[in-house]
Amino acid sequence: MHMASTKRIKNRWFVPAGLEPTEMDLKILAWQEKGKIVPTRDLIKTHQQIEGIRQAGKLNTAVLDHVAEHIHEGMSTLQIDQLVYDFTTQHGGIPAPLHYEGFPNSCCTSINDVVCHGIPSEDDILTEGDIINVDCTTILNGYYADASRMFIIGHTTPERQRLVDVAWDCLKEGEKVCANPYVFVGDIGNAIARLAHSHGYSVVRDLCGHGVGVDFHEEPDIVHYGRKGTGMLLVPGMTFTIEPMINEGDWEVCGDAEDPTEWIVLTEDGTDSAQWEHTYLMTENGVEILTH
Ligand code: MF3
Ligand code: CO
Ligand code: CO
Repeated sequence: MHMASTKRIKNRWFVPAGLEPTEMDLKILAWQEKGKIVPTRDLIKTHQQIEGIRQAGKLNTAVLDHVAEHIHEGMSTLQIDQLVYDFTTQHGGIPAPLHYEGFPNSCCTSINDVVCHGIPSEDDILTEGDIINVDCTTILNGYYADASRMFIIGHTTPERQRLVDVAWDCLKEGEKVCANPYVFVGDIGNAIARLAHSHGYSVVRDLCGHGVGVDFHEEPDIVHYGRKGTGMLLVPGMTFTIEPMINEGDWEVCGDAEDPTEWIVLTEDGTDSAQWEHTYLMTENGVEILTH
């Protein structure tokens, strides 16, 4: 594990020697002086990087659109994986999950009480009423974009429908908090958790969103609960995901005893879970969705 030096933690933001501080520098330095967590300069993407992530986002969206067109009752999650692999590679991309830290497939397929990181399998057949999250991360020319959507197989119960809808509303609530830059990760989490709780649901705490773009998982952690004003300050040029996992029951998660890869995450109480994810670019005018 990389250990940051004390000096860097204390003084993450600095104005390069010989340069006049910009308005952004001054705002970040003011928050830093108040003891807030501010980004390091490497988290601010260049125009070239942003363009690359934008293109990865377009392919990622096309991949998920392709899944949306072909997903149907009676198919296996391994067939979804094949769709994702074929479409991504045919368009010059690489599915980031494939062989990532031992993950065996090209996307995550998480059905009902699977919170996330579900592994595609020929034994998992989509049946009427299932709710499934398909999570795709696409690498294009070295740049990453990460998004996931829920799909409802045929008609489902009102309870599952409501969970899927509220999970979507939670993502949008987080987005709304980012209508302007210079907000904190904790502001996002606070708003999301408030909305989830108002519907009697809970927010998963063990997994979070993340910086993304040059790498799969970058700083900062985007937690989906917490106190306003905590966590990192989000400034123009940062790219990150918001991806709240909302549980019908309690927030605790656990592993699957039958999963040798130890990737699969389940709700501990066996209730259903839903999640939507987008990759965002923070701008002077708030976030822009890069995975539309
Ligand atoms: N796409 C997931 C995320 O949102 C990560 C999946 S890791 C994998 O961060 F290896 F399971 F693909
Ligand atoms: Co994802
Ligand atoms: Co993600």
